[in-house]
Amino acid sequence: MASSLLSLAPATPSAPLSFHGIHEGKSNLGGINKEKTNTFIKAKSFGRISMVVASNVSRFEGITMAPPDPILGVSEAFKADNHELKLNLGVGAYRTEELQPYVLNVVKKADKLLLEKGENREYLPIEGLAAFNKVTAQLLFGADNPVIKQQRVATVQGLSGTGSLRLAAAFIERYFPGAKVLISSPTWGEYRLLAEISCEICSMASLPNCLARNHKNIFNDAGVPWSEYRYYDPKTVGLDFEGMIADIKAAPEGSFILLHGCAHNPTGIDPTPEQWEIIADVIQEKNHVPFFDIAYQGFASGSLDADAASVRMFVARGMEVIAAQSYSKNLGLYAERIGAINVVCSSPEAAARVKSQLKRIARPMYSNPPVHGARIVANIVGDSALFNEWNAEMEMMAGRIKNVRHKLFDSLSSKDKSGKDWSFVLKQIGMFSFTGLNKAQCDNMTNKWHVYMTKDGRISLAGLSLAKCEYLADAIIDSYHNVS
Ligand SMILES: Cc1ncc(COP(=O)(O)O)c(C=O)c1O
Repeated sequence: MASSLLSLAPATPSAPLSFHGIHEGKSNLGGINKEKTNTFIKAKSFGRISMVVASNVSRFEGITMAPPDPILGVSEAFKADNHELKLNLGVGAYRTEELQPYVLNVVKKADKLLLEKGENREYLPIEGLAAFNKVTAQLLFGADNPVIKQQRVATVQGLSGTGSLRLAAAFIERYFPGAKVLISSPTWGEYRLLAEISCEICSMASLPNCLARNHKNIFNDAGVPWSEYRYYDPKTVGLDFEGMIADIKAAPEGSFILLHGCAHNPTGIDPTPEQWEIIADVIQEKNHVPFFDIAYQGFASGSLDADAASVRMFVARGMEVIAAQSYSKNLGLYAERIGAINVVCSSPEAAARVKSQLKRIARPMYSNPPVHGARIVANIVGDSALFNEWNAEMEMMAGRIKNVRHKLFDSLSSKDKSGKDWSFVLKQIGMFSFTGLNKAQCDNMTNKWHVYMTKDGRISLAGLSLAKCEYLADAIIDSYHNVS
C-alpha cells in the first residue's frame, strides 16, 4: 500500500486519529475488529486540517469479511456443478419451461414505445413518477376504492419491495419510537433451520448478526424493535394459525404486524379467507397496525384482484394500513427496482402529512427513485391493450408454476409407496414450496441429487420444469426416507 494516502479530517488535539466510523464501530455490526484499527496511521496537524498518512497497512485492515449472501451462495455452488441433471431451486425469479430467465413481452413493447417517444433522463420528484403512484395504488386497492377517491392514501415510489419496506421502517422508527414490528416465523430471507438457534447459512454465531434474514435486517438496520409470531407448523407443513393469533394478541397494543399479502415467502402457506378475517379481528381489537408486504400480486394466482384480497379486506374495514409493493416478480422488473409504499390514513390531511414525511426520509437516503421501471408500469397499466396483455402473461407465469406444482405432487404421490401424505404441496401457493426437509435431507438433495436449494427445505417451483418433476420427486423421496 502506498505510504502517501492523504485524508482530510478536522484537527482535534485530543483525538488526532479521527476515523470515527472505524474506531467507534458499533459492536453489533459484527464486521469491525476494533483492536486492529489504529495500528497504521500517523497524523500530523497543520492548523485546521489533519494530514493522515497511512504507512504500510490499509486503514480498512480491521474490517472483517461479511458472510456471503445465502441465495447467491446457492447459485454459485450450482454454477460450479457440471452434472447434467442439476437443478437450481434456490432462485426466487421466474424461469421458462426451458429454465431460462424471462422478459415479459408486454415489457418489451412498453420499452419500445418509451424508446420511440424519446424518454428524458431528468430527475423524478422525491415521491416518484406521479402517473406510477396513481396506478400502483389503484392496482393494489382497486381503482374504485373509496380510500383512493377520498385521497386517503399516501403513496411514494420506492426502490422496489425492499426499498419500500426500508422507507416504511425508517418512518416507524421516527414517528412511532419504541413500537414493535411483529414478523412471521419464518419470513422472507430467513434460511436458518427452524429448530436451531444459529444460522446455518451465513454461519453467524448469533441471530442478531445473521445476514440471511432480509425482513428482520431491514428493521434492525432502521433501529425498529421486532419480535416474531408463530406461522409455520412443521408437524403439518401448514399454518400454525392458533399460534399466530395468540402471538398477535399478546403483542403490545399498537404494534405493527407485518403480513405477507399473498404467497408467503418462504413457506408458500397463506391463511384462508376465513382466517384472514380472524387475523383482522385480532389486529383491530389490539389497535395494531397491519403492515402488508405484497411482493407477488398477480404472480401468485394469476389475478391482480384475487392476490390483493387480503389487503383490500383490511382497508374495507376502515383500518389504517401500510402496504409495500414490488414489481420484481409480476412484471419481471427485478433489476429496475420498482415498487411503492402506501399508507392508508383515516383522512386526506393525515395522508398528505404522512406523504410529506416519507419524502423527508427518502430525500437524504437516495434523493429520488429511478424512472424507467416507473414509466413501464404506468404505460402498461394506462393502456388497456397492454394491461390485458400483462394480465395474460401473469396468468401464464402463475399457470406454469401451478402445473409444475401439480406434476410434482402427482410424481411424489405415485412414486412414494410409504403412504405419506404429500398434499401439503398442493395447499401452498406462489413460487415457493416448503418441502419439510431438514438440513441433512437438504444436504442429500444437493450432494447426491445435484438439487440446489436453501437449507430450510424451501424450493422455488419457478426454477422447475415439468420435465424435471419426476427427477425432483425421486430426490425428495430418497432424502425424506433415507436420511434422518
Ligand atoms: C416477501 C418478499 N418481500 C419483498 C421482496 C422484495 O423484492 P424486491 O426488492 O426485489 O422488490 C421479496 C423478494 O423476493 C419477497 O419475497
